Amino acid sequence: MHKPILAPSILAADHANLAAGTAVVENLVRPQELAWVHLDIMDGHFVPNFSFGPQTVAALRPNSRLFFDTHLMLDEPHRYIEPFAKAGADLISIHIEPQYDHAGTLARIRELGCQCGIVLNPGTPATAIEPLLTQVDLVLAMTVQPGFGGQSFRRDVLPKITQIDTWRRERGLGFRLEVDGGIDLNTVVECRAAGADTFVAGTSFFNAADRAAFAEKISAL
Ligand code: DX5
Ligand code: ZN
Repeated sequence: MHKPILAPSILAADHANLAAGTAVVENLVRPQELAWVHLDIMDGHFVPNFSFGPQTVAALRPNSRLFFDTHLMLDEPHRYIEPFAKAGADLISIHIEPQYDHAGTLARIRELGCQCGIVLNPGTPATAIEPLLTQVDLVLAMTVQPGFGGQSFRRDVLPKITQIDTWRRERGLGFRLEVDGGIDLNTVVECRAAGADTFVAGTSFFNAADRAAFAEKISAL
């Protein structure tokens, strides 16, 4: 079982000073080698919202040693792999729902020197990503409909997390299993029990009175 990793989402940080958001994460998350930050990229098409693009990722890169966990919520992610890889993404995750060459795009992410992930929405069955499991470093199971921070955790996704974790064990695969949306110190325990090991937290992390204690609790799961 992988060690738990917290990946705070700077979608919930101050967008007038995102570098301060990554600095908060960098200063608090221990141990350093497991220090991730989650970057939510939205195109106004796949999701009804915008966030930021490769220029912002590139601007954050020199200020941070964090592992850039880059979640592309785009209709045409295959068109934007190169800019995000060049901007300094360490891992690039793409959604299964839009129609494009998923396997080819994952391979391209690898070719560009990044780790790759496949993402599925709450309503998408695990079978949709099953053929790609041997090709990925990470599976991201959305626990809200993507587009906005601060939504309520979708408990109905838990059996799907267990199914993906079961396939991982049965097949001896090493990908990380990440959850994203409505994760707090209560829902994270349910996700860990279901088999997840990588936890995105936006609102709950940035609003926590004691962020260091929040990060410590996740490391101890
Ligand atoms: C949702 C994003 C999430 C979001 C999570 O579209 O993919 O990463 O920032 O935010 P919280 O933790 O507030 O649900
Ligand atoms: Zn995300």
